[in-house]
Amino acid sequence: MASPLVVGIAGGTASGKTTVARKVREALADCRVAFIDQDSYYRDLKDLPLADRREVNFDHPDAFDRELLVQHLQALKSGQPIQKPVYDFVTSSRTPQTKKVDPGDIILIEGILVLHMKEVRDEMDVKIYVDADDDLRILRRLTRDIKDRGRDFDHVVSQYLRHVRPMHMGFVEPSKHFADIIIPHGGNNEIAIGMLVGALRGKLSGAVNRD
Ligand code: C5P
Repeated sequence: MASPLVVGIAGGTASGKTTVARKVREALADCRVAFIDQDSYYRDLKDLPLADRREVNFDHPDAFDRELLVQHLQALKSGQPIQKPVYDFVTSSRTPQTKKVDPGDIILIEGILVLHMKEVRDEMDVKIYVDADDDLRILRRLTRDIKDRGRDFDHVVSQYLRHVRPMHMGFVEPSKHFADIIIPHGGNNEIAIGMLVGALRGKLSGAVNRD
């Protein structure tokens, strides 16, 4: 049996990575797709006082439990199910729950730094970078963090200037160079997403060489 096709989807915060991943999953609903998001692998900060958690640089590669992420990716590749952590952005900690992820014909892995992390990147067969203009990303991020992640305006702005923007320029944006495909205009680019789905189907059926 062929090993699963590992597809990495990177891009800046609020670029539309999750939307691209969701649309690919929906288009491949007839295939077994295992999905892991790098966000679930943020280190658990439950032992740090809540006020201090807000000061952490969540955009640096060290903010992630990369050992567990690689371990889970390799387990899925070898056909084993995993228990993915469930992360709570409001408290910046892991919840007691985990979510079972079954192995699949395709493994989709999505996150800001999945192309930056060499051990993760080396496991991929297809590397995607989702691009979107910075002004649109910050507007989306502001709305999302205030509505869904328990933040206020001042915090989003200061976090963006202190951590998000410099780490984006230092780690995320440069990782674009590892991409096989760059999808402009984020998750709304139906043509690019359609082409990607077609290429993945080709690879899955063996019609297109995996190398
Ligand atoms: O979903 P998205 O790719 O935007 O998630 C990554 C972002 O989540 C990072 O830019 C990081 O600043 C943010 N984050 C946060 N608080 C946490 C963990 C991550 O604001 N506790």
